Amino acid sequence: MIIIESIEEMQRAADRLRVASKRIGFVPTMGFLHEGHLDLLRLAKQRCDTSIMSIFVNPTQFAAGEDLSTYPRDFERDCRLAEAIGCDIVFAPEAEEMYPPNDSTWVQVEDVGKGLEGSVRPTHFRGVSTVVTKLFHIVRPHVAVFGQKDAQQAALIRRMTADLHFGIDIVIAPIRREPDGLAMSSRNTYLSNQERKEALALFRALEIANALFSKGERHVDTLRHAVEEEILRSGNVQLDYTAIVDPDSFLPVEGNIERKALIAVAARVGKTRLIDNLIVRNGTTQS
Ligand code: PAJ
Repeated sequence: MIIIESIEEMQRAADRLRVASKRIGFVPTMGFLHEGHLDLLRLAKQRCDTSIMSIFVNPTQFAAGEDLSTYPRDFERDCRLAEAIGCDIVFAPEAEEMYPPNDSTWVQVEDVGKGLEGSVRPTHFRGVSTVVTKLFHIVRPHVAVFGQKDAQQAALIRRMTADLHFGIDIVIAPIRREPDGLAMSSRNTYLSNQERKEALALFRALEIANALFSKGERHVDTLRHAVEEEILRSGNVQLDYTAIVDPDSFLPVEGNIERKALIAVAARVGKTRLIDNLIVRNGTTQS
């Protein structure tokens, strides 16, 4: 596995791979890898000849007062884990090179990024779409893999990739969970033992909605109330939102769920902000 820090060097390596007709599979991350990230890498490897993972804690997707300075980092461990899966290249640029002082271009996706995470974190998705565009132009992948854990981000990247004709196949990997159901996240490391137990409320609430849906409940108000009730029952968990939306447009579903819908929750456990979601569809359900 090779580690590349320079943008120009990464672009030259990508060009060489393309000239050699190698399909490039790309997994963008902010590091502090867990099995969820590694699943994405496994998928990229299955689908492509060469796998590239970026590790870059992107400053522009954090608002002032968020956890940019404390975001967990362990570059050496990340490289060991990526190499063990068979990653070919880790791309780890410096923030100063990704965002030079005269940088003044943003990529802004309308609509998909407005509600849910976009309403709680108004500048977040602008940072994500901008950095992913930069990374796509540097790594030049054929396939890029994202996680369903960040469902709105995945939908936004799909929209952007189609709208800007990037010609990149966007693959979405299912949510990887801890054995008790907690969705894996680099931020889980912030949780104390007590908070770790309380954090399970998000998964429990989604499971309750899932069970209701399986029994035939289709009305969004009933499903949403069931989720909210379960989360509010857990004293130390502050709910940011529960939303039931179309999984592609992220527009709210009104009334009864006709075909499929995504149930998303965001909550704070102590100081840690967590998100989780579940897709329900008529006939079957899937996380
Ligand atoms: P990060 O939070 O490091 O996540 C990198 C990728 O891993 C994202 O596509 C995310 O959805 C996926 N992922 C995280 N936890 C997962 C889980 N439990 N199961 C499956 N996939 C999971 O998301 C970002 O970084 C950044 O916004 C980024 C896209 C890199 C842009 O800076």
